[in-house]
Amino acid sequence: MRKILIIGMGAGNPDYMTVQAIDALNKVDVFFIPDKGTEKAALRKLRTDICARFIKTKAHRFVEMPVPKRAEDFFDYKSNVADWHAEIETNYARLLREALGENECAGFLVWGDPAIYDSTLRIIEKIRTRDEIEFDYQVIPGISAVQALAARHRVPLNRIGESIHITTGRKLAGGYPADADSVVVMLDGEQAFQKLAGEFEIYWGAYVGTDEEVLVSGQLPDVANEIAAIRAERRKRNGWIMDSYLIRRPEK
Ligand SMILES: C[S@@+](CC[C@H](N)C(=O)[O-])C[C@H]1O[C@@H](n2cnc3c(N)ncnc32)[C@H](O)[C@@H]1O
Repeated sequence: MRKILIIGMGAGNPDYMTVQAIDALNKVDVFFIPDKGTEKAALRKLRTDICARFIKTKAHRFVEMPVPKRAEDFFDYKSNVADWHAEIETNYARLLREALGENECAGFLVWGDPAIYDSTLRIIEKIRTRDEIEFDYQVIPGISAVQALAARHRVPLNRIGESIHITTGRKLAGGYPADADSVVVMLDGEQAFQKLAGEFEIYWGAYVGTDEEVLVSGQLPDVANEIAAIRAERRKRNGWIMDSYLIRRPEK
């Protein structure tokens, strides 16, 4: 039977690969590498570098997986994403049929951890339930940007006895989550923190764990403009950026 390993590769630093992830790499015959266009070439390179560094003897090949662009004009965010995923699902199913032999093992190297803001698991499970192609799959956890951010700032995510809320910039733009204490924000292309009213402390990081890493922390009004300026400059220079932050009201 075909086998698929969905491997958490860590959030940008090859040293984040766990022993379990390295063992999994060494079982894979075919790596499916997402191709999201030129701006993501650096992210593609990290995947191939990880394979070059950690695969000892196993013969393997790479198959490019074109990732369609999500439509930019839409009325409803969730149905927009659902349409996009349906397209990706069709691509993945075709590639699994065409590029993976009956008894071979496929590997998907997923950025960070596959359980956090990534749809590979959702898509693979959908393909499995369509029953058109038989396979088994396993998930190997990875070090997510959330953990990497906290480690680099040397800060616990939660305050004693309090909760941690993980969300997106799009949701934060609608207001600070009610009843939340500490909030971790990902996928924030619009810098939603700039629109928050009131006092907050923020721990921000971009390219965390990589040579490009930049960290800023402090009281929000003092550092908001600095973060926005660094973000704009780095995004322009590199053509892409990945940043996250922990934000919360100051302790009373
Ligand atoms: C599609 S999500 C994937 C998250 C990933 N599965 C994880 O566990 O970290 C992409 C978002 O993760 C965050 N992210 C990923 N890698 C990062 C890094 N090295 N530094 C800062 N944020 C990162 C950013 O918020 C980015 O917009």
